[in-house]
Amino acid sequence: MPARRLPKRTSGFNELYLYLVFFINIPLFIQSALAGGDFDIWIFMFNPKEILKLAQTGKYAIGSFNFSTAEILKAIVLAAKELKSPIIVSTSEGEASFLGMREAAALVEAWSIATKLPIILNLDHGKTPELIKKAIAAGYSAIHFDGSHLPYLENLAQTKKVVDYVRGVEKTFDRQIIVEGELGYLRGSSSVHKEALKVESEDMTSPEQAEDFIAHSGVDSLAVVIGNAHGVFAQGQEQLDLGRLDEIRRVVGTQAFLVLHGGSGIPEKDIKKAIKLGIVKININTELRVAYKEAIEKQIKEEPTETTPYKIMTPALEAVKIVSGEKIKLFGSKNKLKDLRI
Ligand code: 13P
Repeated sequence: MPARRLPKRTSGFNELYLYLVFFINIPLFIQSALAGGDFDIWIFMFNPKEILKLAQTGKYAIGSFNFSTAEILKAIVLAAKELKSPIIVSTSEGEASFLGMREAAALVEAWSIATKLPIILNLDHGKTPELIKKAIAAGYSAIHFDGSHLPYLENLAQTKKVVDYVRGVEKTFDRQIIVEGELGYLRGSSSVHKEALKVESEDMTSPEQAEDFIAHSGVDSLAVVIGNAHGVFAQGQEQLDLGRLDEIRRVVGTQAFLVLHGGSGIPEKDIKKAIKLGIVKININTELRVAYKEAIEKQIKEEPTETTPYKIMTPALEAVKIVSGEKIKLFGSKNKLKDLRI
């Protein structure tokens, strides 16, 4: 998403506008009217951290849905629009390189304007500072620096550098950007795994390290490993260690937003309990990918002579929209746009 844009009016108006937006928190439709009806302006004024803060206070979670094509993004956004839910849309390094970071940001901007939704665009599992910088330059409003493969102190040092860089950007360009760090060894990849899942307790996030990591890195959010893994597993389901999550929450308090990666395949009752225990962002990828692929396969099988891309892709879009909508309802973020006064 681009840096904040101000109404094309006199400088005195700009100051008043910023004051109204940030200090009085007036409803966005009034801000829009003040901006001369240019609602594309206020769409970019939202603070992504505020969205997670409201979820933390209200005890619900915001879905972070991965996309790598225009129609997957469209499906996720339409589900959120229908359910009046805030959303995060994410690209991993691979997804971003397929779609292009600037192109992803431009698509998200276009959908924000079309739907009047504040959509957070997030870089998922950025492993190098270069990639993080590229995403921020492209206009992402959230970045996840994943140094979890590094020894603890190295992860902390690199994450801290990323946080310092982001804070500098925020100050210079008057933007707000969520920085997420990660602790623990998260297994798997966003696909269907034939083998059974095994998460060792030494792979999981330690509550003491979580507290230390947040205090010394200054991250806004922390991705935790509590039995979750990327992908869905043919043999056995992911079992969350909710006691560990409770402990992490207790030591961390509300200092950081807790994030659950690997949201696909986790039993619904565990997801609900995890949200009650303080998870505010849940990442979903595999279930969207499976729905997308199965719908395309079915469509091609049923209409083997069809060559019009949008006709082939329409059922896939519908399938991704249904899964996204189910997750939004499960996470409790349905109708929460009103918290943001939209
Ligand atoms: P799933 O593929 O298990 O949904 O995980 C997605 C994820 O965590 C992206 O970071």
